[in-house]
Amino acid sequence: MELRLTQDGTPTLFHPGYGEAYHPRQGALLQARRLYLEKTLTHLHPSPRILEVGLGLLVNFRVALESALRRGVRLRYLAVEREPLPKEALAAIRLPLPRAEAVFAELLKAWPEERFSGPWGELKVVFADVREVVLPRAWATAVFLDPFSPRVNPEPWEASVLGKLRLASRPGGRLATYSAQGAFRRALLRAGFRVHRVRGVGKREWTVGIAAKVPPG
Ligand SMILES: C[S@@+](CC[C@H](N)C(=O)[O-])C[C@H]1O[C@@H](n2cnc3c(N)ncnc32)[C@H](O)[C@@H]1O
Repeated sequence: MELRLTQDGTPTLFHPGYGEAYHPRQGALLQARRLYLEKTLTHLHPSPRILEVGLGLLVNFRVALESALRRGVRLRYLAVEREPLPKEALAAIRLPLPRAEAVFAELLKAWPEERFSGPWGELKVVFADVREVVLPRAWATAVFLDPFSPRVNPEPWEASVLGKLRLASRPGGRLATYSAQGAFRRALLRAGFRVHRVRGVGKREWTVGIAAKVPPG
């Protein structure tokens, strides 16, 4: 896989199978902070529990961890990843996040493990296709929905997966994603999220779903 620099100076990888990079050209760190961290209000949450679809290069994880470490709150992070990258590929993706990088260096020593923990919190990784995974109920304060685009990687955007993500969310929990696709947004609404179009940074629109009080059905 080819290493590429994004416009904020942080690296990403290009996946030849999907024909897409793991992050937008505008910035890997920029998207992690402005979309996944901030649009889910995770940067303000006193005890964040994050569910991520697509752990990838752990950029979103490290941004959430840096925020938690700076604020002195404990992070709980559950990620689903079908195609874990080798340790050497992850080690090449360094980020200007001093506290999180120290934890990441420790974590890499044991990668790929299913559970990592420390005074900072816990990371659990389910190495499977999200369509096959059983998720905890009413658990997540935030969902980071970050597969490749629906065009090249449709499975994680399916209605059945969105329904599972709703059931795994606490009422009021926020799902964020870069996709603004109409069919996806309608499916998100049917899955029991209030759907908000939000202005993107370096992209016209992103999507935020807020888990309705009672899931449908
Ligand atoms: C855009 S990248 C994620 C970037 C990552 N969030 C980060 O912070 O670096 C998409 C990821 O979704 C994973 N993925 C794609 N389809 C999946 C599926 N059906 N189940 C689980 N993971 C999937 C890919 O293997 C890839 O690692």
